[in-house]
Amino acid sequence: MTERPRLLPLLGQAGHSGRDSMTCLYRCGNACDHPVPNKSDNPYLGDVVNAEMSRRGVVRAGAVGALVLGLGGTAAATASPAAAAEVAPAMPGTLKKGKAGPLTFKAIPPNRLDNLIVPNGYDSAVVMRWGDPVLPGAPGLDVTKQTAKRQSAQFGYNNDFVGVLPLRGDRRALLVVNHEYTNEELMFPGFTSLEALTVDQVEVAMAAHGLSVVELERVDGTGQWQPVRGRHLPYNRRITALATSFAFTGPAAGSAWLRTAADPKGTTAIGTLNNCSGGVTPWGTVLSGEENFNQYFVGGDGAPEALKPKLARYGISTTARVPAGSRRWERAQERFDLAKHPHEAHRFGWIVEVDPFDPESRPRKHTALGRLKHEGANVIVAKNGKVVAYMGDDERFDYLYKFVSDKKYLPGDSAYARRHNLTLLESGTLYVAKVTGDSPAGEIDGSGKLPSDGAFDGTGTWIKLVSGNRSYVPGMTAADVLTFTRLAGDAVLATKMDRPEDVQPSLRTGKVYAAMTNNSNRGVGTNPGPDEANPRNANKHGHIFELVEQGGDNTAESFTWSLPIVCGDPADPSTYFAGYDKAAVSPISCPDNVAFDSAGNLWISTDGNALGANDGLFATAIEGSERGHLKQFLTVPYGAETCGPFITGDDRSVFAAVQHPGEITGASLEKPASTWPDGDFAKPAVVVTWRLDGGPVGS
Ligand code: FEO
Ligand code: CA
Ligand code: CA
Repeated sequence: MTERPRLLPLLGQAGHSGRDSMTCLYRCGNACDHPVPNKSDNPYLGDVVNAEMSRRGVVRAGAVGALVLGLGGTAAATASPAAAAEVAPAMPGTLKKGKAGPLTFKAIPPNRLDNLIVPNGYDSAVVMRWGDPVLPGAPGLDVTKQTAKRQSAQFGYNNDFVGVLPLRGDRRALLVVNHEYTNEELMFPGFTSLEALTVDQVEVAMAAHGLSVVELERVDGTGQWQPVRGRHLPYNRRITALATSFAFTGPAAGSAWLRTAADPKGTTAIGTLNNCSGGVTPWGTVLSGEENFNQYFVGGDGAPEALKPKLARYGISTTARVPAGSRRWERAQERFDLAKHPHEAHRFGWIVEVDPFDPESRPRKHTALGRLKHEGANVIVAKNGKVVAYMGDDERFDYLYKFVSDKKYLPGDSAYARRHNLTLLESGTLYVAKVTGDSPAGEIDGSGKLPSDGAFDGTGTWIKLVSGNRSYVPGMTAADVLTFTRLAGDAVLATKMDRPEDVQPSLRTGKVYAAMTNNSNRGVGTNPGPDEANPRNANKHGHIFELVEQGGDNTAESFTWSLPIVCGDPADPSTYFAGYDKAAVSPISCPDNVAFDSAGNLWISTDGNALGANDGLFATAIEGSERGHLKQFLTVPYGAETCGPFITGDDRSVFAAVQHPGEITGASLEKPASTWPDGDFAKPAVVVTWRLDGGPVGS
C-alpha cells in the first residue's frame, strides 16, 4: 500500500448523503435541496394500467410492421477507411467466453487519507490530470495564465467516464474521458463569486467541460499506461461545451422543439455539457450521457408558460430569473438564457456518440435514445444481432430505460461494417421499465428487512414509448416523447427508482446491473414509500439492481430482477450481500458506476460514501459461490468521488477517474482541502492501477 497520510484541514459542510455541500452545488445544482422533479402520480403497483399499455403496444407494433432501413446514415456517421482499420476487433459489446476467476486482492480498509490507496501487490500512477496538454504544443497548467484557448487544448476538469480503446495491438490505446463539470472556486485564483468571474473565465469553464481523447502507450510491458508525447498526435482531441459542433440524429432531429434562433433547422447543437458516465460500443465509439444540464440555464421564469411544466420536470427553475447556484454561462453566450432562447435547454440531455478513431468526425446527439438526465449508456449485441443500450435517469424517483436498434450489428472491422454500425443508434425502439415485486406489499416495510421469500425480487416489463417515428404514448408525438422522455415515462406509469445511475450489461451473461445510488426522500413526507425494488426508506446507501431478460434475449419486453447487494455497513441489518458472510465483506455506500472485468466480476465505484470514509472502487463475483463477496480495491483522495472505472480487456490495468478531490466547503485554490496529486492543490485526474507481478486482476 503506498500510503502517505496527510493532515486534513478542518473544513467542510455536510451536504446530502456523504457528499460535501460544495459538491452538491457544483455537480448537480443542489438537486437534493429542490423538490423532487417527478410529481407524476404513478402508483407503484399500477399493473392493470401497465398491462393495458403493453397490450396496446403489441397491437400497434403489429400494425406498424417491420421497419427496414438502408445503410445510408448521416454524413456525420461516416468514418474514413483508415480510421476503421485502426479498430481492434476485441471491443466490448459481444458476449465473452471464458471462466470467471476469483478476485485475489486483499481488501483495503476504509480511510480518510488524502491519497490514492491500492491493495498490497499493486501500484498506481496518474495518467492525465486537469490542465495536462492534450493537443500537440499545448501549454501545461498555469492557473494564473489560464485562458479558454489554453484550456481548449488541455485536459478538462472533473473527469468522470473513462474508456480505453485498443489501438494497433496491445501497446497503444485511446483514452476517452468525460469532463462532467467545473468547480470555479477550486480553479481560479482569488475566486470570490460566480458573478464576479470575467467572461473569459466563464469560457475557460465551458472549455473545461466536454471530452478528451488522448493516445496512450503501455509502460515497459506492464499494466501501466502513459500519454504519448510528441508533435504527431493525430487522435488527440478536445470536445468542449464552448465550441464543438454536434449533429442531431433520429426522429426528433429537426423537430420544432430543437429549433433556435441560431439553429432554425434544429439539426446542430454547439457543445456538450455535464457529461457523466458513458460506454464503449462494439464498433469502437464512445457514448456519453449529458446529465445535470438544468443548472446551466437562467431565465426559466421568462420562458413561455406552456413550456414551464416541461422545463420544471427536468429540474429547471421556472420561478427564479437566476436560480441559486446557476453557472452564469449566459454572461458568455446568451443562448443559456431561456427567456430569450427557450428551446436551448432541449438541445442538452442526450446521449452523445463520439468516434475517437476519426478525429475529423462530427460528434452526434442521438434523439432516438430519449432526453433525460442521462447518466450513461452501455451497449450489448443481442442474440438476434440488434444492439441494445441500457440507460438510467439519475434523479430521485426517475426511471430505467433501454433502446433496441432497428438495424443489426455487422461484426468485423471493415470500413463497410463500421459505416453501418455508426448508424445503429439513429433508429430504434425506446422502452421504460415497469418493475413489480413478488412479495406481499405488507412485507416491504421500509427497514430493509428481507420479505419472507428471502429476496427482494420480482418481474418487470419494458413499456414501449416510441418506435422509429411512431409514438406509443397517447397525446405525444414521437418528437414529444423523445424530447420530454420523463413526461412519457410518467404517462405510462414507469417505476420510480432510487436514482438509477450507471446501467451495464455483463458481456458474459447478458444480465444487466444498475446502480441505485441513494434516495434520501424515499418514504419521507409525501414522497413515494418503499417498494420491493427500492425497499428502504430514506435510502442513504443505495443498492444494486440485477435484471435478467426473458429467455436471455436482450431485446425481450419482460424480465425478472433481484437486488444482489443492498449497500451499507455490513453490520447494519438492512444490508444484504447475496447471502455471503457479511464478516468478509467491505462496507460500501452510494454505488454509482459499474463495470466488468473479462472474468465477469462486477466492479462498483461510489459517489458520496455516507459511512464517513473516502469513496472507493469495489469488486465482487456476481456468479457462483463468491457472489456477494464484495471487496474494496481502492480509495480516492479526500473529498473525491470515484468514477470510471474501466478494466482493460487483458485485465491487467484498472483505470479510474478521481473526480473533485478536495471539494470541501471553505476550500479554495489557495487553501486546498486536498493537495493530491502533486502536493500543491487538488486536480481531478485519471489514474491507472496494475499488479506489480504483471498478472491480471481477479484471476
Ligand atoms: Fe454525474 Fe449521476 O452522477
Ligand atoms: Ca421477493
Ligand atoms: Ca456518476
